[in-house]
Amino acid sequence: MSERKQVEISKDKIMEQEKYIEQIHRMNEDLFNRTGKRKSCICSTFGCQMNEHDSEMLMSMLEAMGYSRALSEDNADIVIYNTCAVRENAELKVYGNLGHLKNIKKQRPDMKIVVCGCMMQQAHVVEEIQKKHRHVDLIFGTHNLYKFPELLLSTFDKDKMLVDVWDVDGEVVEGLRSNRKFEIKSFVNIMYGCNNFCTYCIVPYTRGRERSRRPIEIIDEIKDLVANGVKEVTLLGQNVNSYGKTLDEKDRITFAELLREVNKIEGLERIRFMSSHPKDISDEVIYAIRDCDKVCEFLHLPFQAGSTSLLKKMNRHYTKEDYLRIIEKAKVEVPNIAFSSDIMIGFPGETEADVDDTIDVCEKVRYDSAFTFIYSKRRGTPAAKMENQIPEELKHQRFNRVLEVVNRISGEKNQEFMGKITEVLVEGKSKKNENIMTGKNRQNKTVNFTGGDESLVGKIINVRIDDPKSFSLNGKLVEVIR
Ligand code: SAH
Ligand code: SF4
Ligand code: F3S
Repeated sequence: MSERKQVEISKDKIMEQEKYIEQIHRMNEDLFNRTGKRKSCICSTFGCQMNEHDSEMLMSMLEAMGYSRALSEDNADIVIYNTCAVRENAELKVYGNLGHLKNIKKQRPDMKIVVCGCMMQQAHVVEEIQKKHRHVDLIFGTHNLYKFPELLLSTFDKDKMLVDVWDVDGEVVEGLRSNRKFEIKSFVNIMYGCNNFCTYCIVPYTRGRERSRRPIEIIDEIKDLVANGVKEVTLLGQNVNSYGKTLDEKDRITFAELLREVNKIEGLERIRFMSSHPKDISDEVIYAIRDCDKVCEFLHLPFQAGSTSLLKKMNRHYTKEDYLRIIEKAKVEVPNIAFSSDIMIGFPGETEADVDDTIDVCEKVRYDSAFTFIYSKRRGTPAAKMENQIPEELKHQRFNRVLEVVNRISGEKNQEFMGKITEVLVEGKSKKNENIMTGKNRQNKTVNFTGGDESLVGKIINVRIDDPKSFSLNGKLVEVIR
């Protein structure tokens, strides 16, 4: 992969995009005045919350351009795939979907197909699309998302595919339109990129080097969100515990200090954050979770594997014992804390004893939830070239062994809520049943409850749990707190 440099994106360049947004908006208004029809768009997001947040920004730009939201790709005028490169199956899905769109585009040649996100930062992917999916109109990467309006406009009078991918780390871009739908919960990026180079992972190559946003920009964004009704923010970064390291001395604060600053924002109810890297989590972060009333008692702390020798091969920089010590400390300091994790099965060289170590960590920590992944070979990463790659069938066997333990424990953890009262931020009606409302408790568990209606959305309430399920808690409204 080529050497990376920083590129400066001035505020002027971002303001320039407003010009293109306005131009497309005029075209769309014109069409509406002539025909009474609005053009529509749809975006499918693969991957992590970073991508979800990027998609929100794309959708809010499109909204400002006058596009409505389409319910399906079959009748959308713009279809966007915001892609993820972290595992092969997410990539295969994108290729499959692009194949499907070919026929739709044959019937509606004016439809614009846009592919962006992490997959596009890999040259071989762009080549593949150029070769096999010539019906794609626009490709861009993770570093130049801000340029979307200009790029989209350029596709209008072109039949040829437009490709604009930068192999550089974009400067932190401030002032971008973000999701102005203002729901109850919102993601807030506090940093971009990753410097950790875990040997299996593609993210450092697709998202570039780690860079933090200035605290003032983060605080101002959250205040603005709160003024518009947002009650909960999730602070996002690939490794939030190393927040601040790239900032100038005058702006530099640690992640624990940032949590304490965000906690002071009036009107904000809840603060969550992810992801945390065990090698960088400090006691101060645990104390901040303990002391800050808005910071939820929930820690997503991916351990990947229980075996110290495997962790070394993964370049994770902690041992099994280090990890368990952090968890113990958090359990002591923060009563009622819930844990979640990412777990990887089938890393090259993994033995049955290594899998036992992973299961041992699960049993000791007792995760409320965990994401289990089968190792997937990523081109360009060191692990892809390691010897002793594990055969697929064995990976699946081991995966099932771990999953069984993870599911049993999370079911047991949910049972502990039986008969108890838990605090819920109400999000809306349940998708499955009109008469049931739903939200999350502070431990990030989905709570479905009866006895309430839509007037409770955004409120903090107490629910008594009378039916804990494996993946959610069911109960009845007890009282509205605020
Ligand atoms: N920065 C975050 C993780 C981002 S990727 C962190 O370090 O916690 C989310 C998860 O995907 C990782 O935690 C890992 O478990 C999984 N993952 C990453 N690369 C993978 C690969 N090549 N195969 C399978 N899973 C992978
Ligand atoms: Fe990937 Fe590791 Fe960075 Fe997480 S910390 S994004 S797993 S390289
Ligand atoms: Fe995937 Fe990119 Fe996130 S590779 S996990 S979408 S940072």
